[in-house]
Amino acid sequence: MFQQLDAPAKDPILSLTVAYREDAREDKLDLGIGVYRDSQGHTPVMQAVRSAALTLADQQDSKGYVGLAGNERFNDLMSQFLLAGTSALARSATIQTPGASGALRMLGELIAYAKPNATVWISRPSYVNHQPVMEACGLEVREYPYFDPDTKLVNEAAMLESLRQLGPDDVLLLHGCCHNPTGADISMATWQAIADLAEQQGFVPFVDLAYQGFGDNLDADAAGLRLLAERLPEVLVAVSCSKNFGLYRERTGAAIVIGATQADALRGKGHMQRIARATYTMPPDHGAAIVAMILENDALKQQWLDELQAMQARIQRLRQQLVAEFRSASDSHRFDYFAEHRGMFSVTGLSAEQTQQLSAEQGVYVVGGGRVNVAGLSEDRIGKLVSAFLAVGA
Ligand code: LMR
Repeated sequence: MFQQLDAPAKDPILSLTVAYREDAREDKLDLGIGVYRDSQGHTPVMQAVRSAALTLADQQDSKGYVGLAGNERFNDLMSQFLLAGTSALARSATIQTPGASGALRMLGELIAYAKPNATVWISRPSYVNHQPVMEACGLEVREYPYFDPDTKLVNEAAMLESLRQLGPDDVLLLHGCCHNPTGADISMATWQAIADLAEQQGFVPFVDLAYQGFGDNLDADAAGLRLLAERLPEVLVAVSCSKNFGLYRERTGAAIVIGATQADALRGKGHMQRIARATYTMPPDHGAAIVAMILENDALKQQWLDELQAMQARIQRLRQQLVAEFRSASDSHRFDYFAEHRGMFSVTGLSAEQTQQLSAEQGVYVVGGGRVNVAGLSEDRIGKLVSAFLAVGA
């Protein structure tokens, strides 16, 4: 059965982790997969998470099954947290998923069931997993213009112009904040314009919110989503707790359906539960139980907010330091865009050849297209990144 199989394509992000691990050079630098590292180069367990996990270990008295929608307390807390202050909260329904990738898949399958001919529009470029997941659901995927390689910012005019062709059979996938891979986000005026277009043309926005709290702050990072949720009858949301709770390997996320009525949203939830049953049955509990405990305990929640805010502030400082070191080493301002971007990543526009040279000759690993994980840097390695970039002609 397996003899005639072709070689599978390698995942562009996860394969880098393997290549980095196999590199014997001591001063190598991994700026591939999106994980936050502290100044010692370590991805820490957040203190609030550690405390909640210890309490959980002490108090949990059963490992019995939870249910197809996962932890319903987590689901309620997540939707309240995200949709606070919007009328959409009362017409939403949520399932817990294995990470946001699981949420993307469940929501993609729901779209395919509700509207088999739907086209999902993704930004050019977008998160490397968006297209594979949507295509695995049997959906057609098309791209809208997004990133301007010259300014390293979003070409919002071109984006909005392209969205004018979308109609009721289209789903528009947007990054809630901290666009992956580019780091370039749309303005509130553009969120507003998207809401206007969706109202007029009937397409459904689908917001992937994987980095809330890493951009400016928790509220600002959810402002675009909240605006759409308030104004539009239908919005889909994939949420990740991987980064802002540092729960990466626990695979903790949520899929939220906002419908014109609560009954519509609940029908969507019911179908996602049916689809989950045929996929993984129910999500792993541990991460969601930790998040729920943090969100409903004032002291733990404050500790988590402080830790998250400290990570966000440090990423911003790393960005400023990058700009300063690039300015002095290149005697130019051409790397100033690092400070304009938000969240973990920046796309630098390195060619495939330069990216290859960067790993082969300099031991610096970045994702194809030149995506750098700024949040994976430590202060004392910025010089290494700067000299490696200039050595490959960036
Ligand atoms: C990334 O883009 O590096 C992360 O979102 C990890 C992933 O799941 O691909």
